[in-house]
Amino acid sequence: MQVAIVGGGQLARMLALAGWPLGLRFAFLVNEGDDTRSVEGLGRVLKCEPGLEPSVLYEALGRPVVITVEKEAVDTGLLEQLNAFCPVHPRPDVLRVCQNRRRQKLWLESLGIAVARHRFAHDAESLRTAAGELGFPLIVKAAEQGYDGRNQWRLADPSALDRFVGQPATGDWVVEEQVPFLREISLLAVRSAQGEIRFYPPTENRHVNGVLRTSLAPAIDLPEPALQAACEKVRQMLERTQYVGVLALEYFVLEDRLCLNEVAPRVHNSGHWTQQGSTTSQFENHLRAILGWPLGACDAKGHAGMVNILGTDAPPDALLSAAVTLHLYDKQKRPGRKLGHVNVRDDDRAKVEAELQRLEQRLGGG
Ligand SMILES: Nc1ncnc2c1ncn2[C@@H]1O[C@H](COP(=O)(O)OP(=O)(O)OP(=O)(O)O)[C@@H](O)[C@H]1O
Ligand SMILES: [Mg+2]
Repeated sequence: MQVAIVGGGQLARMLALAGWPLGLRFAFLVNEGDDTRSVEGLGRVLKCEPGLEPSVLYEALGRPVVITVEKEAVDTGLLEQLNAFCPVHPRPDVLRVCQNRRRQKLWLESLGIAVARHRFAHDAESLRTAAGELGFPLIVKAAEQGYDGRNQWRLADPSALDRFVGQPATGDWVVEEQVPFLREISLLAVRSAQGEIRFYPPTENRHVNGVLRTSLAPAIDLPEPALQAACEKVRQMLERTQYVGVLALEYFVLEDRLCLNEVAPRVHNSGHWTQQGSTTSQFENHLRAILGWPLGACDAKGHAGMVNILGTDAPPDALLSAAVTLHLYDKQKRPGRKLGHVNVRDDDRAKVEAELQRLEQRLGGG
């Protein structure tokens, strides 16, 4: 059974690695110039050429039974066209909303979900107006092409704003207040084509310079009523949009409430711990979901953590120990780039925390 994935990075790799034991075969649709080393050997890699007929593309992808994505920056128009040949999950209209921060914010607000105070801006004047209304410190985020903290700027005070507006004349920005959060968590939900919904336990995430550094699950000491309300909202979102696949939601945790930072319509870095820490990994469940198969249990087996390997290629023997599992993506080394991750699992939470610390020290700043 053939599955096509748009994208050829580490998420595509880990989806394929989870699918092979299920008897699935894969094709990857990538852009000219993409580094596709992560998926080499795991299936056909096809370069998307402009003007290619969708029917030709569908054939070249090996007549997949379903098409899915591993990233936000996808051509949703093309996916709409491919939808005539086989299901595309998640739905292209949902991908279109999620891939643009402005559209995503409007969508979340329309669902009555609490997000950071924000304004939309497109030039120096509207940026200044936004700053006047929100106050400092601020975070300016490009509406599109932002990931791993890229294309976002932290403005501490009016002079930082002056420097910023002195550079780009125009843009498409979402300007956000800097939320004074206590912690960050993510929720990973999965809905199958049959309508079955499951949630993984919440994951606590720590970011450094806007990039995910470590995750630990299950997150503890959360404001329970706020968490229950958030899960209920997510359930409604999934049902109303007929969403199929894994959906990741990143939240800021405040004293007794949650504030939704952003939504990713795909498997997510903060769910990598599920490869060793849950009965069914997020990758396998995403595949089961898009194929309309029964979902697997989303439990946490004791406590699980993950550390990202950013930009450094520490030798495996420096990272491995009895409690850890190493995942390398075979990508070209670049400063700060996600090259792999290490998963830790143990029944004792303190041991997982200690191991995460050890690994972080070994890996250095990246
Ligand atoms: N409004 C905000 N207030 C406080 N911190 C924020 C805010 N927005 C973003 N951050 C911090 O920066 C991190 C990255 O931001 P965000 O998730 O918006 O960017 P991203 O580029 O999509 O990152 P990723 O792809 O890793 O999820 C957040 O996890 C959080 O730590
Ligand atoms: Mg994020």
